[in-house]
This record gives sequence, C-alpha cells and structure tokens, in this order.
Amino acid sequence: MSTAATRDADDAMGSSRRAAEPALSIVRDVRHAPPAVPHAADGRVDSADAVDAVDVSGPVGARPGGPLGWVRRVVERAREDVDGALARDPAASTRLEVVLTSPGLHAIWAHRGLHELWKHPAGRLPARVLATVTRSVTGVEIHPAARIGRRFFIDHGMGVVIGETAEVGDDVMLYHGVTLGGRSLEHVKRHPTVGNRVTIGAGARVLGPVLVGDDVQVGANSVVVKDVPAGAVATGIPAVLRFPKRDATNQWVDPAIYI
Ligand SMILES: CC(C)(COP(=O)(O)OP(=O)(O)OC[C@H]1O[C@@H](n2cnc3c(N)ncnc32)[C@H](O)[C@@H]1OP(=O)(O)O)[C@@H](O)C(=O)NCCC(=O)NCCS
Repeated sequence: MSTAATRDADDAMGSSRRAAEPALSIVRDVRHAPPAVPHAADGRVDSADAVDAVDVSGPVGARPGGPLGWVRRVVERAREDVDGALARDPAASTRLEVVLTSPGLHAIWAHRGLHELWKHPAGRLPARVLATVTRSVTGVEIHPAARIGRRFFIDHGMGVVIGETAEVGDDVMLYHGVTLGGRSLEHVKRHPTVGNRVTIGAGARVLGPVLVGDDVQVGANSVVVKDVPAGAVATGIPAVLRFPKRDATNQWVDPAIYI
C-alpha cells in the first residue's frame, strides 16, 4: 500500500526514472547470451594479450568511423552507464546527480581510459600511477589491465578492488567493499571471470580464477572460492549455492530494494 510520502517521492523521481527506462529495457532485453568472457585457462598471462583476446573493454577498442565515430561511441557508452546507474540506484534522482556524485561511475570511466593506455607498453607505468590517483579520489581500485564490460556499475564505490587478470561481463553491478582478488602470487590468470548480469553484494570477496556464471547473485559479505554456475545465489563463507526461481524480466529491479 503506498503512502502519501512514497507517492510524492515517486512523483519527484518519476521523470528521471522514465528517462532511465531505456537502460532498464536494455537490461531486461538481454537474454541468456553466451558469457562475454570465456573462462581463461590457467597459465602465464601477459595482461595486454589477455586484454586483446576478447574485447569487452568499452568504447575505445577498434576505432571504426574515425575519431568522430570514436567520440560518439564514448558518449553513447557514458550515457548508457549513467542510465544504468540511475535505473539501479533508487537513491539517485537525476542524470546530473548521478554524473556528479557516483564514485563508481567516475572509477569505471577512468578505468576505460587507463585500460587503453595499458595496452601500449610505454603507457603501463602512467596507467598504474593514474589508477592510483583514481583510487585516492574514488576509493575504487581497478588494475588498468582488468577487462570490464558495458553498463558496469559500482554502487557507493568505496573499498572495491578489481585485480589485474579479472574479467567482467556486461550489466554487472558491485556494491562497496567487493574484492575480485587473487589467491596466487604467480603471474598467471589468478582473478575471477564474472559473466553477464551478475550482482555482487557489499563486502563480498570472489577469490582466485573462478568463473561466476551469468545472472549469479553473490550475497553481501560472502566469500566465493569456487565456480558459481549461471543463475545461482551464492551466500556465506565459504559460499553455499542455491537456485531460486526468478522472474528473468525483473532481476535488475531486485538489487535496488536492498538499499
Ligand atoms: C544474496 C541475496 C541476493 C539473496 O537475496 P534473496 O534471494 O532475496 O534471498 P533471501 O533474502 O530470501 O534469503 C534466502 C536465505 O539466504 C540467507 N541470506 C541472504 N543473504 C545472505 C548473505 N549475504 N549471507 C548469508 N546468508 C544470506 C537468508 O538469511 C535466507 O536464509 P534462510 O533461508 O535460512 O532464512 C541478498 O541477500 C544479498 O546479500 N544482496 C546483496 C545486497 C547488498 O549488498 N546490499 C548493499 C546495499 S548498500
């Protein structure tokens, strides 16, 4: 039953939410496509090679259409990021507010540029230095070599760590305090591979070169150290799996109600 207060809030946010509706429908329309990132085999990995193997890096990979086409794609990707954030963050009411106040968005935008820089051997040190600056500003540490898909959103930002050989698909949402970390000190594929439409709750750790399948939800403060099949909910330490029946058209609405 809706109260007058909730009706007022709905009215106030209604227009912005309607503006974000295309992003929600993008998310709803995504069906069970193959994972954006295959489970990379263990073995010595040069992160620049890994980056080039499957391009989920965002707007600035190949540049068909020349510089103008590239700029257009950058703007389009930024817009879908903003709309995705607006759709998934019930506390945000306008695009401007999201652009100005979302450290998670600032972090991913910085990462996309630094990821491109990282692909050039001479750009690696500057990319690491600038990633450290970004971390100081946003509280989000993403290694420039990490490969991250489209419409990626980190709510609240602070305390997220994404390691060098991590790979993340499209429409993934992390809350604050998430670690996509390694369990090995060797220079191999040692960080997780996360599929599409995955939500990882606040404070969760996903450790090692595990595969987190499409549409997985990882519970807040859980620790995942083994592969998680598509559609599972993983909670606890170590994470235990269950397979809820979910309305596939509604799954992006769910994280919002946890705020
Ligand atoms: C994992 C999660 C997605 C499950 O949501 P759900 O499918 O609606 O699950 P339910 O709330 O019905 O809980 C199902 C069971 O899992 C348990 N559970 C839920 N989340 C858990 C968690 N993070 N850790 C351990 N157990 C958890 C519940 O206690 C319940 O146990 P029971 O069956 O013994 O009673 C959700 O609980 C979660 O952790 N989301 C992350 C939210 C978040 O990080 N918010 C931050 C906002 S700032």
